[in-house]
Amino acid sequence: MSERRESIHGQWSSRWAFILAATGSAVGLGNIWKFPYITGENGGGAFVLIYLLCIAVIGIPIMMAEILLGRRGRRSPINTMRFLAKSEGRTSLWRYLGWAGVIAGFLILSYYSVIAGWAVAYFFRAATGVFEGVTAAGVEAIFGNLTADPERLLAWHTVFMVMTMVVVSRGVRSGLERAVRFLMPALFVLLLVLVGYAANTGAFMEGLGFLFRPDFGAITANGVLIAMGHAFFTLSLGMGAIMVYGSYLPQDASIGKTTLMIAAADTTVALLAGMAIFPIVLANSMEPGAGPGLILKTLPIAFGHMPGGSFFGALFFLLLVFAAWTSALSLIEPLVAYLVENVGTTRLKASAWCGFGAWLLGVGSVQSFNVWSGEEYQLWGMTFFDVLDYLTANIMLPLGGLLIALFAAWGMRRSSLLDELQITDGVVFRIWRFLVRYVTPIAVILIFLNVIGVIDLTGH
Ligand code: PHE
Repeated sequence: MSERRESIHGQWSSRWAFILAATGSAVGLGNIWKFPYITGENGGGAFVLIYLLCIAVIGIPIMMAEILLGRRGRRSPINTMRFLAKSEGRTSLWRYLGWAGVIAGFLILSYYSVIAGWAVAYFFRAATGVFEGVTAAGVEAIFGNLTADPERLLAWHTVFMVMTMVVVSRGVRSGLERAVRFLMPALFVLLLVLVGYAANTGAFMEGLGFLFRPDFGAITANGVLIAMGHAFFTLSLGMGAIMVYGSYLPQDASIGKTTLMIAAADTTVALLAGMAIFPIVLANSMEPGAGPGLILKTLPIAFGHMPGGSFFGALFFLLLVFAAWTSALSLIEPLVAYLVENVGTTRLKASAWCGFGAWLLGVGSVQSFNVWSGEEYQLWGMTFFDVLDYLTANIMLPLGGLLIALFAAWGMRRSSLLDELQITDGVVFRIWRFLVRYVTPIAVILIFLNVIGVIDLTGH
């Protein structure tokens, strides 16, 4: 039955196109903006180690499960779950898993676009030479001025959201393949240039030590949850982005190999970003836990002091915008695909409405950095932006991923799994099935229990 199934939204031209698109989804602000700042806030090495473990034990098996379900369903995540539940003889309640994912993607896009707007703003600053010879105090002021001004943040947020929805309205496939093909290698090279600069700051070894020397005294239960949540966030898992891309994947592509390549590329980019940033942080006596502004307070110093810095700086922020762009597309694709399938609206209209909604919600995140930054606007010590980020990355994505693993491992027939993975019932299949059946769900559940205090994994 395999050959006939194809999505109504089309298919990738090849396995490579899928790898590029999925890598485009995975590599984004999560790797370059979020990973360094949450690593800094959670004490470094031990956090990084837990994050890497989560990628291996939780992320990779779930990514395989998501691609598998997507390709088997060949529809938007909501309809894929509905269809698979039916064909595997399971309750139709599983469709709500698709819904939860769609909602998570929408919520994430609303603040993702605000942060991507910072990158757009920094592209122009770098290009016009604002960072030349800049000091640590100078970059602090530049960042402060930008975030203090809701109008400017709103303008950049609007620019980014429009860019995203224009591409989504044309169908993610056209353009995306080509953009990612040159973007990924270029981003990689620029990160190497930055690591090269960091190697000469005089604090390179301390920076690497911060990143790779685990100090388990520095990690809290909440830190463990954040590390796991980030494994989901950075690999775009738990909300259907990879599922919907999987639904456009040609039938003959190997799901296991593809997954490993995407995860390896994503992890490398994050680690390189960390290796570039922490030496600069330490060499300039900055605070690793400086929060969401960390990369914007460190990298401009590197660009301000290297030959050709304005050029490299502009290029770097341009690539960052591209990386964020290719991720943003995948955040809203599940919802747009669903609207096209079920409401019978055009892609253009669906994109316009989704974009408008996410943009509107994004205004709350814009305000979180200025007019709503005060305590009277906070919930549990978190701003509107922090709450959305915490809720989506640390709760909704891991829960969604947990349910995806459970459905793939326990809900799907063994024969359907083997047919879709196109492998024989050998070692690889057994390892994967063991991971998604037991290891992955138990790990996620333990980390949840740990954070609500039912058990104590960290010992303090
Ligand atoms: N993985 C993207 C990043 O690291 C964010 C993302 C999350 C994209 C979930 C899609 C789905 O920036």
